[in-house]
Amino acid sequence: MTQELWTAVDTYIKEKMVPADEVLTVALRNATDAALPVIAVSPTQGKQLHLIAKMCRARNILEIGTLGGYSTIWLARALPQGGRVITLEIDPKHADVARTNFALAGLANVIELRLGSALETLPKLAAEGCGPFDLIFIDADKTNIPGYFEWSLKMSQPGTVIIVDNIIRDGAVIEADHKDPNIQGVRRFNDMLSTETRVSATEIQTVGEKGYDGFALALVNAGA
Ligand code: SAH
Ligand code: DHB
Ligand code: MG
Repeated sequence: MTQELWTAVDTYIKEKMVPADEVLTVALRNATDAALPVIAVSPTQGKQLHLIAKMCRARNILEIGTLGGYSTIWLARALPQGGRVITLEIDPKHADVARTNFALAGLANVIELRLGSALETLPKLAAEGCGPFDLIFIDADKTNIPGYFEWSLKMSQPGTVIIVDNIIRDGAVIEADHKDPNIQGVRRFNDMLSTETRVSATEIQTVGEKGYDGFALALVNAGA
């Protein structure tokens, strides 16, 4: 099975399930025009994030890793009246594109972008009492996933859903001696997750237009 087939099937699913959307199309174009890396979640994955946010009736969402705000818009569109998304981004250029896209989507008032290194922003959010969050999407650099997960747990409550993107990386995750610090970050996170009694978790491999990858899904337990 090939990338060509995965992309063709993703296109087929997208045509059936993900209606063409001017705002999302322009948001992606703004990102490519500004030469941002083409690493946003795919449309089918964006809709999956949106549906999960609705399933858990998320009112207070945290995203770590904004890029051009594509996934952020999918998440924010799942919010009820009065809900909000806080999204964290280190790169000012990415943040500029994202802010333009949030305004374009009419979501500037419900999405708050915090510029800075997420490991520095997260303690500030905690100190400000921004949590607890109902849904947390971890999608920034992969070396710091363990730290992002620790902070996520601190700002969670029973029922909080935590999703972590890019945890398979073409299957490289099973290579214990892999040289890439991103892979080692994912592996350290997996070690934490496997022994973390505050959550119930699994991981799902995915194929599609963005290749072979996957996500972790964790639910914060009652009494955690
Ligand atoms: N969630 C986005 C994709 C995010 S790509 C989407 O699906 O549309 C990862 C982003 O994380 C990049 O924009 C990168 O600049 C940002 N990032 C990398 N390291 C970071 C850090 N230490 N703190 C905050 N953001 C970081
Ligand atoms: C890459 C992909 C991602 O979805 C991400 O969040 C970061 C990096 C990548 O392909 O390099
Ligand atoms: Mg990602």
